[in-house]
Amino acid sequence: MKPNVLVLRALEAKQMAKLEQYFTLHLLYPSHHSEQLSDDIARSIVGVVTSGTIPLNNALLDRLPNLEIVASSGVGYDSIDVELCTTRGIKVCNTPGLMTNDVADIALMLILATRRRLLTGDQWVRNNDWSEQGPMPLTSTLTGKKLGIVGLGRIGQAIANRAQAMDLEIGYFGRHEKPESGYHYKSTLIELAKWSDILVLSCPGGKATAGIIDKEVLLALGPQGTLINVARGSVVNETDLIAALSSKTIDSAGLDVFAKEPCHGDTFSGLNNVVLSPHHSSGTVETRGNMSQMVVDNLNAHFSGTPLLSAVN
Ligand code: 8YV
Repeated sequence: MKPNVLVLRALEAKQMAKLEQYFTLHLLYPSHHSEQLSDDIARSIVGVVTSGTIPLNNALLDRLPNLEIVASSGVGYDSIDVELCTTRGIKVCNTPGLMTNDVADIALMLILATRRRLLTGDQWVRNNDWSEQGPMPLTSTLTGKKLGIVGLGRIGQAIANRAQAMDLEIGYFGRHEKPESGYHYKSTLIELAKWSDILVLSCPGGKATAGIIDKEVLLALGPQGTLINVARGSVVNETDLIAALSSKTIDSAGLDVFAKEPCHGDTFSGLNNVVLSPHHSSGTVETRGNMSQMVVDNLNAHFSGTPLLSAVN
């Protein structure tokens, strides 16, 4: 009997085929309404495939009394009630490290696009401003600027490596000081924001970091400052951010994650000092393939009684 697995988020095609080979699949996407599941099927489910952005809380978990493992595609798992899973003896695993470089690349892309006004330049050519108004207004060099990183984990470190190669000075704030990094440690977020020209968010989402980037922090970052978010939308008070961008309390922002996803196009309408990306930082064929494969490998490890590759509980 192939174990019954509920799929809340499709994996890449190659790995979906492998899942079908090893498991009996029950697909529950794009809507994740558990009421669509019959009681018989719900009771038969022993595994769930999901991703770090799909809510998995007691509403659904209560319907799955025999669930043994949740295999999530993504490093972040803030949308999964891991505490509840642990109390019910349900294993949770993610796919750490596989997207580190891609996410760091997107962070640098957003830094360059915001600070060197990529979209303004693109429009300047398309709208014939160049021939009608002459050269585009000057921007500011990145060389020697101060980059503040909130969350110096794998992704934060990969961002720092890239930024150092571009002659940026690195500071950071996080749960732990990391003297071995050689970067400037700031003991408060406000202190880091005051010190930074560019503040990058690469910390986990969840209760501990919810709304930590608020109007006080944005005020401290200042009118020459840029905010970059490749972490989670929940880390930023988005209302405060939109107000700070409109009032030029900060210079600009580059965002790959949002308070509500998919983010509606009107959310930042009229603001030309923000660059938007649709939560695509790990969105490469290579990385999503590897993430999907690690999900399959974790499930197979569990059901063959061998150690999980990447358990979070
Ligand atoms: C994924 C991410 O795109 O890894 C994460 O935590 O946010 C992204 O890599 C997202 O989880 C959807 O799978």
